[in-house]
Amino acid sequence: MSVATALIRPLYHLGENRPALRGTKLRRSIFRTMESLSRRQANAARDAFESAEPGEPLPIALLPAMLAEADALAKKKPLRWDRRRPQDKAKLRADEVRRAAGGSVEGKRLIELACGDGRVGMHLAQQGASVTGVDLSDHAMVPEAAARVELLVRDAAALGVDDDSVDAIYSFDAFEHFSDPAAVLAEAHRVLRPGGVLYASFGPLWNSPFGAHQWGRIDLPYVHLMFDRRELDAFADHAGRMRLTVSCNEKPVAYFRGLLRQFDSAFKTVSYLEKFNVSFAHRITERAACFRGRVDAFDELIVRSIEICLRKRHV
Ligand SMILES: C[S@@+](CC[C@H](N)C(=O)[O-])C[C@H]1O[C@@H](n2cnc3c(N)ncnc32)[C@H](O)[C@@H]1O
Repeated sequence: MSVATALIRPLYHLGENRPALRGTKLRRSIFRTMESLSRRQANAARDAFESAEPGEPLPIALLPAMLAEADALAKKKPLRWDRRRPQDKAKLRADEVRRAAGGSVEGKRLIELACGDGRVGMHLAQQGASVTGVDLSDHAMVPEAAARVELLVRDAAALGVDDDSVDAIYSFDAFEHFSDPAAVLAEAHRVLRPGGVLYASFGPLWNSPFGAHQWGRIDLPYVHLMFDRRELDAFADHAGRMRLTVSCNEKPVAYFRGLLRQFDSAFKTVSYLEKFNVSFAHRITERAACFRGRVDAFDELIVRSIEICLRKRHV
């Protein structure tokens, strides 16, 4: 194992849901040291990426050994996008929406795009909002949410709701799944009242370490960028693993940045935040040519999610 790998090991999960800097002085100081090491790793990876010539995907024969190493690490600490319990996560998300909506949702009409289990809407309904959840699936919502949240089973790009009739629209971990995010934004703009807010937090983005949502499948960070997709599918079939998910739209960060520019005359950007995962930067350093052959810019590889808050402009 290289020194770099040894150093990066304790950082394995650093980029995921980075905990607030709480706890004892010692704990905070350890965390800051880890962060600074992590920053150094990221800078080394950027240098390697930018000086490499674009290369081919790795030979699939390398995958079993890399996977065995990742599986051993995952046994100690299973890889998950979000370590919070769904109930706790929903409560925190409801707080985020309440803040984005101006501090109170009482008496407001809200729509959640791709509402999943509906728990976020349930909390907001308990605070006096009228909440409609929209999702393609009709079986994800939990019963306690169904009692308070109206479910519309349909495409987020065709809400079937009146123009200018909604105070706030929100969405979690869904814009990387929508087949046409621009159409979803246009539809949100149509139904929001002028001054209404769209809040969305989404990821992991396609080019980030877990962009293929590969947990429980071939759960090696960046596996979808390092290897050829057809060879990966054949490997999965042979190894009795699930293939990488096909439900992601595979849009790069550059697409989402461009989307905001495209909608600039429709929405005022209240806030825009890109969150990073640099815990696997050593993989980029080790295989820079392969990554250079897959993405145009280094940032693509480390921006794991985006959080946006937009306000519909008054005409
Ligand atoms: C990763 S889940 C997120 C669910 C929930 N927001 C959460 O964070 O737990 C993605 C959800 O998007 C929904 N979805 C995907 N494309 C959609 C679309 N075009 N319109 C509505 N829902 C969609 C799926 O049915 C799924 O429930």
